[in-house]
Amino acid sequence: MNIMHMTRRSLLTGLAASAMLAHSRPLQAQALPKIVVSKDPSCGCCTGWVNHLRQAGFSAEVIETSEINWVKVRLGVPQDLASCHTAEIGSYVIEGHVPADAIKRLLAENPTGKGLAVPGMPMGSPGMEMEGMAPETYEVLLFGPSGRAIFARYEGARLL
Ligand code: CU
Ligand code: CU
Repeated sequence: MNIMHMTRRSLLTGLAASAMLAHSRPLQAQALPKIVVSKDPSCGCCTGWVNHLRQAGFSAEVIETSEINWVKVRLGVPQDLASCHTAEIGSYVIEGHVPADAIKRLLAENPTGKGLAVPGMPMGSPGMEMEGMAPETYEVLLFGPSGRAIFARYEGARLL
């Protein structure tokens, strides 16, 4: 193989790679489905969480309801996993202050299960940041009919 041939080959490979990159960006943006968040109109930390999602590239639709507990029952969120807001994305349910990165991983890995939950409202989780308060360590749980598993562990916004 002569040098001319190799140069031509690597040039073609480079062109093919950049063509693929040009295509992959819009496809990734399209791949994030809309998230629909149900929250009580008076919930401030819920709005904080929605802002966190939007900053992470999600398009979020917010449904304000004074019957958020009924939404949890309808969507099958176990009572002991309950938090403030409840969201739906694709076929999954997202309960509580789940970090956006965990939702992206859920969509990418597409595991069997109903969805993700961060029970309660851990201090320092997205939307629950408070000046002067130390971030808590908490787990993101994957829950579903076949049980529960720890999907991720965070300290505040930081993945552990
Ligand atoms: Cu909250
Ligand atoms: Cu909330």
